[in-house]
Parts: sequence; structure tokens; C-alpha cells
Amino acid sequence: MKEIGFIFDLDGVIVDTAKYHYLAWKNLADQLGFEFTHEHNELFKGVSRKKCLEILLEIGKVEASQDQFDAWMIEKNVDYLAYIEKMKESEILPDVPRILNFLKENNFPIGLGSASKNARHILEKVNLIHFFDVIVDGNNVTKAKPDPQVFLIAAEVLEVNAEKCVVFEDAIAGVQAANNAEMISIGIGDAEILSHADYNFDDFTQIDTPFLTKLINSLA
Ligand code: BG6
Ligand code: MG
Repeated sequence: MKEIGFIFDLDGVIVDTAKYHYLAWKNLADQLGFEFTHEHNELFKGVSRKKCLEILLEIGKVEASQDQFDAWMIEKNVDYLAYIEKMKESEILPDVPRILNFLKENNFPIGLGSASKNARHILEKVNLIHFFDVIVDGNNVTKAKPDPQVFLIAAEVLEVNAEKCVVFEDAIAGVQAANNAEMISIGIGDAEILSHADYNFDDFTQIDTPFLTKLINSLA
């Protein structure tokens, strides 16, 4: 077993894709004739595509057959991927590369634990895929966050005990998933919303080397 591992969520932690998810869901809501707000979009963070569509249809009080539901799932994703195609490295969130480089230089195993089925594609688009020793995403899990499955699979592949894993998350369900896995949770974003995290930071610019060193020493 290796000593300590680091697992990153993708959307909202590494890249700000929430805005593209929002635009794609809004396009569908517009087409169906109801309003989809930024407040609604908050409910979608960390939530699977299928669950998001279920919530969207509830918001709009829209009934759908299974075939129609499946068609809308595809339509939303095609729309979302059109935004992703235009993504550039400049859309990596501030100081994410600094943290990844620090971890890599110090030989810590690095994993991705995301609900997205587009995770690999996005990491390739922004040229970060080489940092990751394992990518566990929406294609590999049967249980969604807050279930700890996504992070536990990553820890197993990284060969790190769960309690020695540090998870970076921006969603309530993601922080819960990390806590349910008995991992160290670091909330990235609003500390009030992510109050269940072990540590809170607005973004990675606030995570300095002394903090990381202290955290690593406390786990070693
Ligand atoms: C999560 C996002 O990371 O992935 C959610 O926070 C999204 O908003 C989910 O619905 C699934 O993503 P995708 O790319 O498979 O539709
Ligand atoms: Mg997220």
C-alpha cells in the first residue's frame, strides 16, 4: 500500500464546466417552455446526468416516456459537448496546475473521482490527463455521490487506504461521499454550503505548500 493519495472531483474543482452544464440544460428547458435558473443549476452539482434530467422535468412539471427521456439525455449531452469542444487550457481553475505539479513532484498518487461520463474527454481537452494515475467517472460507478463508491474505487486502484486519501470537492453530495468513504474532505467553494468538509477553501489559490505539508505530515 502507498501512504497518502489525492483524489479530485472534476466539474467545479478542476474546470468550471458548471456554466456549460447550465447552458445545455437551459437550452432544453427553453425548448420545453419553462425557466431554468442559476439557483436550479446549484441542485445539479455533483448529480448524475439522469438524475439532473429527472429534477429538470420535475421543475418544469413535464411528463416524459422512456424514449423521450432518453432522447433528451442525448440531446443535452450533444449540446454540452459542443461547449466542451471549445474549451482551452485557460479554463483550468486557478492554481490547479500548481497543486497537481506539487503532488506529482512529490510522487503522491493522484486520482479523479467524478460523476461525469465526459471526464476523460475534458481532461484531454485541457491537457491535464497525464497527471492522473486513475480516472473513475460516471462510466465506472453504479452508485452516485453521496455514495462513496467513486472514491473507494479510486483509492483501491491507487492502493491507498481510504483514511489516507484526501478528496477535493465542490458539491455537497461530493463532500458527503468523501466523508462516507472516511476520507479527508476539502471543500472548494462556499464554506457555508460545504460546511461538512474537514477543510474549506474558496479556491486552490488559498491552498499553500505549508498547508499541504502539514496535512501530509498529519496523515503520514
Ligand atoms: C458532475 C456535475 O460532475 O457530473 C453534474 O457536477 C453533472 O452537474 C454530472 O450532471 C454528470 O456529467 P455528464 O458530463 O456525464 O453529463
Ligand atoms: Mg463537482
